[in-house]
Amino acid sequence: MLAVPIVASNAHKPAGTPVDPKAAKDIKLFQPFTQKSITMHNHIGVPPMCMYAAEDGHFNDFHVMHYGSLAIKGPGLIIIEASGVVPEGRITPQCAGLWKDSQIEGLKRVVDAIKSQGTVPGIQIGHAGRKASMSPPFKGDYIEEESNNGWPENVVGPSDIPFAEHYPQPNVMTKDDIKRAVQAFADAAVRADKAGVEVLEIHGAHGYLISTFLSSSSNNRTDEYGGSFENRSRFALEVVAAVRAVWPQSKPFWVRLSCTEYSNPDLMGENANGWDIYQTIRLAKELKKLGVDAIDCSSGGIIQGVQYPKGIPMYQVQFADAIKKEAEIATAAVGLINEGEDAESILQDGKADFVLVGREFLRDSAFVLVAAQSLNLEINWPQQYSWAVKKARRQNTSKTSTENKTNSEPMATLP
Ligand SMILES: Cc1cc2nc3c(=O)[nH]c(=O)nc-3n(C[C@H](O)[C@H](O)[C@H](O)COP(=O)(O)O)c2cc1C
Repeated sequence: MLAVPIVASNAHKPAGTPVDPKAAKDIKLFQPFTQKSITMHNHIGVPPMCMYAAEDGHFNDFHVMHYGSLAIKGPGLIIIEASGVVPEGRITPQCAGLWKDSQIEGLKRVVDAIKSQGTVPGIQIGHAGRKASMSPPFKGDYIEEESNNGWPENVVGPSDIPFAEHYPQPNVMTKDDIKRAVQAFADAAVRADKAGVEVLEIHGAHGYLISTFLSSSSNNRTDEYGGSFENRSRFALEVVAAVRAVWPQSKPFWVRLSCTEYSNPDLMGENANGWDIYQTIRLAKELKKLGVDAIDCSSGGIIQGVQYPKGIPMYQVQFADAIKKEAEIATAAVGLINEGEDAESILQDGKADFVLVGREFLRDSAFVLVAAQSLNLEINWPQQYSWAVKKARRQNTSKTSTENKTNSEPMATLP
């Protein structure tokens, strides 16, 4: 059942689809993208972005409004924000979660709102590990104490190495803790399926739990979960295998990875004492064998005090390209892809199979329309808006301009 009545749905003709599909035959960005039984109506997605607006992990009206307002603007896919598989696996006390059944209903409302606009709903499930129990970034960068609903004494990691001085001291996970965490990922996947989610992504990036097991910078265990590449990968592979066993085969299954931790300033350089692109490629090959359908290629967040490439458009695309070619698995590119032409060039050059646009979507939720306009393609816009708004932006932003008739003329019809 749709969250909105049929009269308000745009699922039959989503925004972001070409008015004339033949006109888009050479434009990959606006062709449909199918994985398993799921078809996204274009190759543009919104990556997971935490909103720090949940209560006890439950999604609420804010999330329906936020994700609905993105879906109505036509991305093919929205990956709902990182949702904790256990309460202590949230980054902040305000993060969303999927650790109990009462959280399914709120998520279903968000999912239904997204679907009602013809966009495919995905979700990222994760465990924050040693970076848990922190404040939302818009409040600062400090530990949330118990008095503020935090759990600094109950933060866990592969080893007892904190992320930074002002982060909690992690408790070393026992093998039973590891087993429980693996099961929690599988249980959260079942809840996501029940809520109607169609693409599931495991958060294996940014220095959260899975990612800290992978890197020897954050994992100094001496048992079968530490040391060699095989041992450091074991937790990630166990999580993926457990989730694969319960997540429907017909629905896409993605994993987000940090492709380097940047301790080597050469992005494509090796890092024998930490995590690098070559280990990521090796892991991607194993993930493919377990039935993962795509790697969402991000980077960083694992260690402090390293330099990130600043202000370089598409700075992570080289990782998506290398993984796609070397591991022969589909990839999603993300990171400073702010222009339609850039997004299209990534697909045309075969560097990734799908493009995710984060902050630019928050800045300008008309990204899809702007991208289509820059590629000279006419796309559908939500029927409720399209009769009034035909172009993404005034071509000349001067208020006195009469050049752009479409947006500067008084409206002929007023509701
Ligand atoms: C507000 C905000 C919240 C984010 N939350 C998540 C998250 O939940 N999970 C995740 O893997 N990445 C998260 N990210 C990273 C984005 O998914 C994305 O990879 C990053 O912003 C780079 O893409 P962009 O340059 O298009 O914004 C977040 C980014 C922002 C700006």
